[in-house]
Amino acid sequence: MQWSLSTILVIFVAILALTSGLALPKNQIFVGHSVLRINVDSQIHVKALRALESVHGILADFWLSPKKLPGTAHIRVTPENRDKIVQVLNEAGMKHEIMVDDLQSLVNKEAESLAKRRIFNAGDLPTAITTNEYHNITEIHAYLDSVGKQYGYQVASIGKSYSNQFDLKYIKIGKNPNATREAFINGCIHAREWLGCATMIYIINELTTKPDQYNDLLQNLNIYVMPVLNPDGYDYTWKQDRMWRKTRSGPRQGCYGVDPNRNWDFKWGVAGSSSNPCSETYDGPSPNSEIEVQHITKFLGDHKSTIVSYFDIHTYSEDFMFPYGYAEVYPADRTKIQSVASTAVQAVNAVNNEQFVSGSITDIVYPASGSSIDYTKGKLNIDYSYAMELRPDGNAFNGFVLPEDQIVDGATECWAGVQVAFRAAMNDMDATG
Ligand SMILES: *[C@@H]1O[C@H](CO)[C@@H](O)[C@H](O)[C@H]1NC(C)=O
Ligand SMILES: *[C@@H]1O[C@H](CO)[C@@H](O)[C@H](O)[C@H]1NC(C)=O
Ligand SMILES: [Zn+2]
Repeated sequence: MQWSLSTILVIFVAILALTSGLALPKNQIFVGHSVLRINVDSQIHVKALRALESVHGILADFWLSPKKLPGTAHIRVTPENRDKIVQVLNEAGMKHEIMVDDLQSLVNKEAESLAKRRIFNAGDLPTAITTNEYHNITEIHAYLDSVGKQYGYQVASIGKSYSNQFDLKYIKIGKNPNATREAFINGCIHAREWLGCATMIYIINELTTKPDQYNDLLQNLNIYVMPVLNPDGYDYTWKQDRMWRKTRSGPRQGCYGVDPNRNWDFKWGVAGSSSNPCSETYDGPSPNSEIEVQHITKFLGDHKSTIVSYFDIHTYSEDFMFPYGYAEVYPADRTKIQSVASTAVQAVNAVNNEQFVSGSITDIVYPASGSSIDYTKGKLNIDYSYAMELRPDGNAFNGFVLPEDQIVDGATECWAGVQVAFRAAMNDMDATG
């Protein structure tokens, strides 16, 4: 049976009304949660899923939003809602399968592996870091301090997180005190995207342990690396809820957090964000409401005459994206930055034969406003502003819970692409800044 969009929406909303929040102990919150993989074949399907996303509250958590048609979506559903959602998907003619049957078992397996990691302690030498394991915020910051001390690089904080517990810490890597050009890269603006922060560790390790290989970058750029832009959220994923995405401000209407990648003050709230504080894509009570976003925009703004490239690293879906996301609008230098993006993607895919694609945010996914790179491009004029979505792609089943034995492969792919853009920015005498 072909259902109309309005019928599907009515059913979704009816199901939502039946849902209630559950308070479970932290180590058990994903028992019976499953992740569905859904084929998205028509505009009606897209609209139905997007409606589900915008009103979902606690019902369904989008791991992967559909890309352009035909596409794939991944949604996490609670055991209470699974049957109802499956029924609606069936009736709407949306093909789907259960990708993860019991998320708790995936998370438990990861926790066992984390328990065996080599902890990086304050005072350890940089060589003690394990790039093939995940590390918590304390370890990551201890590693930055250690590298800074060992190699004489500046390590500093641009301010505290909302909880006031954690610094937004970076390391500034470069060998030429007279370098007039800078680059900035961060991971984990979204807390659960652990490969992003792990990749920053990998990059710092590369730049510091193989200086000959990166001499041109080190001579021509100061490279700021901030492993964790959302430390409150990241810490929360380690302690309470592995699937946390947002900041930890609030509560507002009983829900915590703002999507810090919808909160930047350029075309805020225009598209692809939610005004519902319980949504995973809540754009906040006002633009730039989040203290973490305030700190980073201040820092980047203060350095905008020297920073020629900015990277925001996410997971997952294997994309290399340039602005804009707020609408199907392109920057004036589209030709230049698009060509660098496609060269970068070739470098990424050459590493392990993955299938990353490049394009503007709206070329690749549906519109989303208030994002980091829309701001760095639209407000700060940082020419080479890019966002990447790292491994895995939509065919894998583990999504954010990427096994540790894939960290180095994923990080190597990312770094291959980033280097292409950094070198382009470094060699482009017209680049701004
Ligand atoms: C990170 O892990 C280490 C080792 O277990 C622990 O001492 C430290 O308190 C953890 N950091 C946080 C913020 O919990
Ligand atoms: C940096 O500039 C100073 C002053 O112009 C100069 O003496 C120095 O050699 C330069 N350093 C490098 C590494 O180029
Ligand atoms: Zn993200």
